[in-house]
Amino acid sequence: MNSEGRDLSRRAFLKTTGAAGLAAALPLLLPSCSSMAQGNRKSGLGPRPPAVPKNDVRSHTDGLRSLAAKKGLVLGAAFSPGVFKKDPEYGEVIAREFNGLVAENDMKLDVLQRVRGQFDFGPADATMAFARQHGMNVRAVPLVWHDALPAWATDRTFPREEALGILRDHIFTVMRHFRGRVFAWDVLNEGLSDKGPGLREEGPWYHSIGPEYVEKVYRWAHEADPQAMLFYNDYGMDGMSEKADRCYQWIKELLARGVPVHGIGLQYHVQLDKHPPLPEVTQNIRRFNDLGLAVHITELDVWLPKNATAADLQQQAVIYRGVFEAALAAPKCPAVFLWGFTDRYSWVPGISGGTCDDALIFDRDYRPKPAYEAIASVLR
Ligand code: XIL
Repeated sequence: MNSEGRDLSRRAFLKTTGAAGLAAALPLLLPSCSSMAQGNRKSGLGPRPPAVPKNDVRSHTDGLRSLAAKKGLVLGAAFSPGVFKKDPEYGEVIAREFNGLVAENDMKLDVLQRVRGQFDFGPADATMAFARQHGMNVRAVPLVWHDALPAWATDRTFPREEALGILRDHIFTVMRHFRGRVFAWDVLNEGLSDKGPGLREEGPWYHSIGPEYVEKVYRWAHEADPQAMLFYNDYGMDGMSEKADRCYQWIKELLARGVPVHGIGLQYHVQLDKHPPLPEVTQNIRRFNDLGLAVHITELDVWLPKNATAADLQQQAVIYRGVFEAALAAPKCPAVFLWGFTDRYSWVPGISGGTCDDALIFDRDYRPKPAYEAIASVLR
């Protein structure tokens, strides 16, 4: 189950995405969680010690939110209003520790237009209201994605003009609704292929329109809200990977054609033994900055093997620390968003088929983990 109680078994996720998205990368990602868990058991590192008691969060730091603000950093987390409704502590902790907010699911097409042409802004507006009440900066994600599609968008194949009309209408309606209240938009999410050069071909947009859909959605987004910061967001390109190289070249070409792209989102879903070396992350951020683009870390989480040990938690803290060091050292990486904040609600157990867990900085009882302290120490 995911954070809102929807069925998020790996099978259900894979079924809805086909071979697409991060799910496609999972065969590469998954084995490491289970093998690491075994390795740790063999190494005799033993069970983890009790986490820091909850009440100590404030006494041993100022709270991450105020530390981030002093550094001029937007520190955000993914939020679900449905969870907040049933678990008030979830709201207390996120408002205390973060100055940024992103809807985990409620700005996706399947929520905003479950019924074609009938926009439902209810859950997204609840997120906006929470952010406003607590003075938090909102990232809006994603306007266009091959995933999280309502049935009407996958049941049939649209002729080209109809697909263009759907995207245009969605972009204008959604951007005008939120205009002036979000500080960055992921216009296109995960548009690059994982299989080789070129764009991802899964999903109705590429299928019906062809590669030109990309240019069109950025131009429409700019027209709908000329003030908005428009990002391209993807995974597997946090360091100097082959995909990051392709993204760099592609974005450079788009910019040369005058396509309004203003920033790059690095999702940063990583695992203990599958994460890019820090100097590469720094180099990657810098090359995008050198193109005049901002970079945001958009969905950070560090997956641990199920039944993680104390040593795993320490290693996780080192990875979190590194990401914040890289962001602060970069010429222009003013936002780091985590994909959730408490292991009580995380997409990781579901998407990893139960082999990974504990990816966030608070445990299931909202006690800060070593990663929390590591981030605090970088921000202090
Ligand atoms: C995930 C959510 O966390 C889940 O609750 C949902 O079931 C599937 O999507 N990359 C993205 C995010 O851009 O939108 C995904 O969020 C995680 C991967």
